Amino acid sequence: MNISISNQDPNSVTADLLAIAVSAESLDAAIASIDAAFDGTLATTLAADTFKPKAGATATYPSFGRIGAKRLMFVGLGDADASSILQAAGAVGKAARAFGSNSVALDMGGLNATQTQIAVEGFIAGNYKFDKYKSGDDKKAPVSALNLLGGANADGLAIGKAVAEAQSLARDLVNEPGEAIYPETLAQVAKSLENDQLSVEIWDETKIQAEGMGGIMGVGRGSARQPRFIHMKYTPKGTPSRKIALVGKGVTFDAGGYSLKPSAGMQTMRCDMAGSAAVIGAMRAIRDLAPNVEVHGIIGAAENMVSGNAYKLGDILTMYSGKQVEIHNTDAEGRLVLADCLHYASQLGVDTIVDLATLTGAAVVALGDHYVAMFTKDEDLAKDLSTSAKAAGERIWPMPLPDDYKSMLKAEWGDIKNVGGRAGGSITAALFLSEFVTGAAWCHLDIAGPAFLDKGHKHFAPGGTGSMVPTLARWITA
Ligand code: BES
Ligand code: MN
Ligand code: ZN
Repeated sequence: MNISISNQDPNSVTADLLAIAVSAESLDAAIASIDAAFDGTLATTLAADTFKPKAGATATYPSFGRIGAKRLMFVGLGDADASSILQAAGAVGKAARAFGSNSVALDMGGLNATQTQIAVEGFIAGNYKFDKYKSGDDKKAPVSALNLLGGANADGLAIGKAVAEAQSLARDLVNEPGEAIYPETLAQVAKSLENDQLSVEIWDETKIQAEGMGGIMGVGRGSARQPRFIHMKYTPKGTPSRKIALVGKGVTFDAGGYSLKPSAGMQTMRCDMAGSAAVIGAMRAIRDLAPNVEVHGIIGAAENMVSGNAYKLGDILTMYSGKQVEIHNTDAEGRLVLADCLHYASQLGVDTIVDLATLTGAAVVALGDHYVAMFTKDEDLAKDLSTSAKAAGERIWPMPLPDDYKSMLKAEWGDIKNVGGRAGGSITAALFLSEFVTGAAWCHLDIAGPAFLDKGHKHFAPGGTGSMVPTLARWITA
């Protein structure tokens, strides 16, 4: 998408769609500024349609050739905070995709750098639709030219575009079927992002086995698509001010293994690599934004399948850290894959580790589809991530990590069980992970709810959302 900033007059600008963002205060003036072309009929039409400028609400009219644009849209700006700007721009992007608009002029009033950034992110996210495998009338092209009217910031534009394109990459990876994205191809996508500051190392199943990553191997060995371990590293030009590792769950399909999922629960389990997609997306954004931070992207990629070679209930896996894990449910596979990645990340000398995973259905039960569950004992880290999420218009919520709940993971034969019980399922999963982190501040983000939306939400089309890419990009470049 080509995005430009101009001060063209909304009355004469040529575009398939002209969208004017309005708040309760600016609505009347916005209508007045363009209503001469419509002989004053817009004001009465909007009033009759009882348009209220709440964030993301839209009213669209054909222009009948009275202005330069073919269609005229008013979009509500709510109280014009970060999430309202995101939603408003997102609604315009979404509508433009539905109309098949090629060119859009968007007037959101004067936008500063951070407002421009989030407007661009919202527009691109709203305009996104995964229709690669559709044919015929269902398929509409994305917008190719966006013209920001009314004042916007060029730096904010460039940052927003980098973040949004990284988020779209994450969404593509999640939306692609398991037949297209499996451990080997996921690793190839990571590899394709390499440049002089971003290096990517890939371990195949032989190397994973030889290194003793029994968690990744145990989960992945039952599939014809063998596992991969991926280490991406961004090295800044100067001395880094911080060192961070992002760790992603990359289960490219989760059938549950011998603790087989029912069909309905398995239908969308290609989304189980959304944590790794967020890491790949964030690494791409970091590469493009070039902050003075050392950033590692660590991914355990595996397919959790049933076969004569799959891991079994009662098996005891020797993990990369040396811990012996007793398997009570092969569907609690994400934590096994992550455990090896977290132990690896703990050896890198980083200050902070953040992992992202579609880890538990229990996190969705607790917080619903639209909150990321955040587990950390580090209050500063919790605050920083929350601040970045708020600025990005994403929602995260703190969860507890009580040490005494670890008793639920007590094993009979090995060192630790891979499941607790039904109660507090997202918490015992996080406590399991905590056993594999040493020497760094750590935060676990369970993105099982927001990473994939069956029906879509607000400006997000159904499917992958690229959850946490905008938050991570802000947190790392802050
Ligand atoms: N990938 C699932 C979690 C999940 C569920 C993600 C729904 C997205 C939407 C994970 O591997 C899993 O199966 N977790 C089990 C854990 C249980 C066996 C302890 C779960 O949540 O039921
Ligand atoms: Mn599972
Ligand atoms: Zn899973």
